[in-house]
Amino acid sequence: MTSKTTASLMAICVACATCAITGTALAQTTDTPPAQAGAGAAAAVSGDAQQEQAAKEEPQTEEAGAKTALPNGTDITPDHLENGRWYTVDDIPTYKITDGKIDYATFSGYRRYSAECHVCHGPDGEGSTYAPALKTSVLTLDYYDFLEIAASGKQEVNKAANLVMPAFGTNKNVWCYIDDIYAYLLARGTGDLPRGRPANKEDKSDEFAAQEDSCMSG
Ligand code: HEC
Repeated sequence: MTSKTTASLMAICVACATCAITGTALAQTTDTPPAQAGAGAAAAVSGDAQQEQAAKEEPQTEEAGAKTALPNGTDITPDHLENGRWYTVDDIPTYKITDGKIDYATFSGYRRYSAECHVCHGPDGEGSTYAPALKTSVLTLDYYDFLEIAASGKQEVNKAANLVMPAFGTNKNVWCYIDDIYAYLLARGTGDLPRGRPANKEDKSDEFAAQEDSCMSG
């Protein structure tokens, strides 16, 4: 629990607690339209990464240490594990596919995304008529901007429709897994992870389970 990432998560939590976010924003979802794939949402995903091999579910060996950078220049190559999660050299959450298996944290991100974000952002990070395709957002949004929006919410005031992104900074079902959700969306955005429930995943590690328990009960 000493990384930059953790420190900034804590800072955001504190910031959000002090600005009196009510957590009632979810009540505004009643008229959310059914999720549907946003037109053109996938268009921004470039096919330049050399990892498209992993897009299929067949087991295959991924070359360890292959360089991968997002269009915004962020290197997403997995570098080290912390609490059972993969991070880049810059402590940005990322995913790792080994022999066709997705790392457990990224699978966890799929589950949490599906439970908490899918209702507005559409299945598999694809976007809906109501909210943007997050698999595309993470290719351009800075990780810390992503965290800030997820923690504090966002409202497009100059839109005619009343679109609300709720604040999740005090929701443990989201906040204990926010790095997992981010890693999952990255894997979707690069195309390395196909749509749907990931077929093959690594087992949950003891480190992951321990951090999960302490976050959820803390
Ligand atoms: C109640 C519906 C709703 C839910 C649930 C929801 N969002 Fe959003 N989200 C929105 C809307 C609407 C926007 C666009 C807001 C705007 O542009 O002002 C948005 C925008 C965002 C953005 C900014 C995207 C960009 O490209 O600027 C991020 C990041 C985000 N949401 C993350 C999440 C995550 C992570 C979850 C699940 C933990 C989630 N959202 C759940 C409605 C929702």
